[in-house]
Amino acid sequence: MPYICPVCQTSLIKHIPSQGYFCKNKHHFDLAKEGYLNLLPSQHKKSKEPGDSRVMMRARRHFLEDGFYQPMAKAVVAMIENYKTKDSTQRILDVGCGEGYYCRQIEALSEEGMSLIELHGIDIAKNAILAAAKKQGNAHFIVASNKRLPYANNYFDWVMRIYAPSNDAEIERILKQNGHLLIVTPGPRHLWQLKEFIYKKVNEHNIQVDLPKGFKLVESQQVSYKIQPNQEQRMALLQMTPFAWRVKGETANSIRRINRLVIETDFILTLATKL
Ligand SMILES: C[S@@+](CC[C@H](N)C(=O)[O-])C[C@H]1O[C@@H](n2cnc3c(N)ncnc32)[C@H](O)[C@@H]1O
Ligand SMILES: [Zn+2]
Repeated sequence: MPYICPVCQTSLIKHIPSQGYFCKNKHHFDLAKEGYLNLLPSQHKKSKEPGDSRVMMRARRHFLEDGFYQPMAKAVVAMIENYKTKDSTQRILDVGCGEGYYCRQIEALSEEGMSLIELHGIDIAKNAILAAAKKQGNAHFIVASNKRLPYANNYFDWVMRIYAPSNDAEIERILKQNGHLLIVTPGPRHLWQLKEFIYKKVNEHNIQVDLPKGFKLVESQQVSYKIQPNQEQRMALLQMTPFAWRVKGETANSIRRINRLVIETDFILTLATKL
């Protein structure tokens, strides 16, 4: 079984008639009608709506669905294809999966589709997970915190972390030995031209990626290309990034008004394996 109880850490067992889960200590978790499981007990919640807000989630969905980050998604899937164990089912987890764009890309771009993939996504934002589950019924989405990932030890072959917070010890625990961790972080010039509107002096991102203890680097790849979002898409891009809260009305207006804006994207894909 993939899940452990978020309250007492014993195995969760599926209750077939209801499709919900329970543990031997009688903690119950219902399957929502949209098909996701909520494994975030209220005592582990620090706020009413933890994680990214609904506004950020919608903005990210629109922007990603318009394909601006698809070249990066393609590189992610190509890396998985290249290093996966052939002819055996790969258990893949997307940590901080948001509304599931990259999970859907895995399904769309993998050579054998979902036939040899067991796909999981976890995020602390319930709205994001609800949206992800609605769109991809054959993947397993849960609301949970990465502080305590409610999965069994050594369960996954792959963990992806794309622009999401990390919990190294938990990722190490749930990955199999020789399992892969794929991290996507911003490259030095990511969204450079957008930042020129926001900061007096734009600094290059530090691209140092610290691997968790007990992992060895396999490959690092830089993916960079230019995008040209229209006015509405630029606003979505602003809203989905951490700039959203620092961009004042006037700056946002100038980003919107300019006729043509070409923006560099720059991503670093880091692949490591658990020793
Ligand atoms: C920048 S977004 C990236 C989402 C997605 N990976 C993508 O690239 O589109 C970061 C995500 O991490 C989630 N998050 C933040 N804190 C978290 C936590 N403690 N546990 C799990 N997810 C968390 C947020 O809700 C948000 O969906
Ligand atoms: Zn329990």
